[in-house]
Amino acid sequence: MPKYTEQEQEVINVHNVFWEALANRDIDLRFSCCSENVTFIGTGLHEKAANKAEYRIMNEKGVNQFPEPFQIDFIWTNISMFHKQAVVTCEVIWKQSINGKISSELVRSTTLLNYEEDAWKIVHVHGSVPDYRLAEGEYMTTEKILLRNRELEQKVFERTQELGKSLAELKATQSQLIQSEKMASLGELTAGIAHEIQNPLNFVNNFSEVNVELVAELKLELEKGDIAEAIAIADDIAINEGKILQHGKRADSIVKGMLQHSRSSNGINEPTDINALADEYLRLSYHGLRAKDKSFNADFKTEFDASMPKINIIPQDIGRVLLNLINNAFYVVAERQKNLSGLEETYKPSVTIITKNLGDRIEISVMDNGNGIPEEIRNKIFQPFFTTKPTGEGTGLGLSLSYDIVKAHGGELKVESLSGEGTTFVITLPNLNIR
Ligand SMILES: Nc1ncnc2c1ncn2[C@@H]1O[C@H](COP(=O)(O)OP(=O)(O)OP(=O)(O)O)[C@@H](O)[C@H]1O
Ligand SMILES: [Mg+2]
Repeated sequence: MPKYTEQEQEVINVHNVFWEALANRDIDLRFSCCSENVTFIGTGLHEKAANKAEYRIMNEKGVNQFPEPFQIDFIWTNISMFHKQAVVTCEVIWKQSINGKISSELVRSTTLLNYEEDAWKIVHVHGSVPDYRLAEGEYMTTEKILLRNRELEQKVFERTQELGKSLAELKATQSQLIQSEKMASLGELTAGIAHEIQNPLNFVNNFSEVNVELVAELKLELEKGDIAEAIAIADDIAINEGKILQHGKRADSIVKGMLQHSRSSNGINEPTDINALADEYLRLSYHGLRAKDKSFNADFKTEFDASMPKINIIPQDIGRVLLNLINNAFYVVAERQKNLSGLEETYKPSVTIITKNLGDRIEISVMDNGNGIPEEIRNKIFQPFFTTKPTGEGTGLGLSLSYDIVKAHGGELKVESLSGEGTTFVITLPNLNIR
């Protein structure tokens, strides 16, 4: 017995020509199967066409995405006839080549046809991707859906376990990375320390060697009885000894600075009057510099916030930070004055300390009108041993130590600098008494 009646077969033929034309990207052949008032609904919500013109636009998008013809295999086709109307439902496997790979998609479609004059014409097509496509083309009964859900739950469980494992692996890798990062910076620091100490040691060794030779010469001259030459040699030895002492002290201050760096502070947090502390260290710095160099002179000013509360800090540590910032500031203004060009005769070296009470935090700014920090070294100044001062005048540990102390207080140390106008270092400290 034939599968379809003659009339049904006519309908199926129109339906299949439409589908073959779809697979071969032939829109005109498709339209020849359709009534003038055909409408379409696709899988995506936007895929709607109220007439042939709209369908042409919708179709162009599809052809642009998949220009190659695709192959179609009907899994089943079902037909219902109602006098001059027919409904064909089918499921079709739609195979297309994407980047050289064949991808199959299962599509379900419902097509409505009317008998118009002397032929069956399509009046509506609806295509969609059924939600059981994961079931490899099978229908899914309720039982199967349950089974499928169980399988999915199992998969979710397995994936979660896999993810948990990857997370643990990631964490392990991360801590390894942190460890190797630490080792690397330790290596860098060791190299920095070695380089810093090597330099004064070279001086000490070289001058000591020269002195050994000079002492031998001195003995010879004494044996010869040439007292004048012996005295000249003894003078040279004394000069060299002075240099040995100078470089020995430099190595000493580097080591002391490093020790301060590594020693965790044993000071105690106490409520401290910040304005008084800043004032004390400003004077300490100024008079210290004056004692070393009588020609040193600079203006210093304070702009203290009278509402400054007492802040819980380790006063010696913050004092050390202030001392370093103020010393740096006095140093640069003095340098600028020493190197004045004729244009800047009105230059007045000046250092200002400003305090501000900002409620939940306080700010201490050390402002100078020196030459500023050149852009290219701005990101280096906090590194240990970075200094632009001549040998013997700075270890380059001041700012790195200050940074660590401020961080240990839960605060921040920032710098703003304008070339030729000056630099401001701003210490921000939390006021923990305010909640
Ligand atoms: N106020 C400033 N103006 C311009 N440059 C500055 C200022 N403060 C610091 N610098 C630059 O940052 C560098 C590092 O400063 P830091 O205090 O760490 O070391 P230092 O002063 O050179 O040596 P040390 O503090 O150990 O005696 C300085 O050598 C200088 O180049
Ligand atoms: Mg310094």
